[in-house]
Amino acid sequence: MKVGYYQFTPKFGDIKHNLKKVLDAAASVETDLLVLPELFNTGYQFTSKEEAKSLSEKIQSGDTTNALSKLSAKKKVYIVAGIAENSEGKIYNSAVLTGPDGFIGVYRKTHLFYEEKLWFSSGDTGFKVWQTPIGNIGIMICFDWFFPESARTLALRGADIIAHPSNLILPHCPDAMVTRCIENRVFAVTANRIGSEQRGDKEKLTFIGKSQITSPMGEILYRASGDKEELTVIEIAVEKARDKNLNAFNDLFNDRNKEFYE
Ligand code: ACM
Repeated sequence: MKVGYYQFTPKFGDIKHNLKKVLDAAASVETDLLVLPELFNTGYQFTSKEEAKSLSEKIQSGDTTNALSKLSAKKKVYIVAGIAENSEGKIYNSAVLTGPDGFIGVYRKTHLFYEEKLWFSSGDTGFKVWQTPIGNIGIMICFDWFFPESARTLALRGADIIAHPSNLILPHCPDAMVTRCIENRVFAVTANRIGSEQRGDKEKLTFIGKSQITSPMGEILYRASGDKEELTVIEIAVEKARDKNLNAFNDLFNDRNKEFYE
């Protein structure tokens, strides 16, 4: 199967522009799974809760999910994309999963980073894995990587691939994903953005790019540049994520000694 990401610079607040950019970029691409960055349609640096609310959408019936669903149907592709979600008065930093038959599900970011805590409610979905014909897809969003429990929970729930929409600012994640993948024997597709934002009187945030596809053995199958727009697709053997035997004596999950864990 083929997996890929689209690394680009969203224009803050211009959902139409950002959606068009994705639709244009995806038009000529053949892939089974495409991962887009966190908050790909809105941009990242909100200056008020009202602003975040005004750019948020219903996840199932919003323009962004509808457009992604159409793209999924047309290209027979599964898409994981970061969106500001509006649900019953709460705003979540969410990721939607769409497939050839349309909307599949939503994950709401569990571990909010820095000022995200001012705009968003903490995610209440927990870590979810969807069984699809192309493999079992789990989702975590950006800073969730910092908590090893996120990827572990997804792996224990059967994820073959962790789709990881991101807006990374700190430098550590691409290297850390090597460990997240080795210790869980899963693939990961980290889709980061590039460029910078400086809104209102806030500090300038520069996003590190370096989107990455990592194998269950911790190989960096592809790492993007730090500052260029890139749409990358590579072939993976998804069944490799199902073999949790490290050698004749060690099994990743059976060897967990849970009585000694908190
Ligand atoms: C982040 O979670 N966007 C750093």
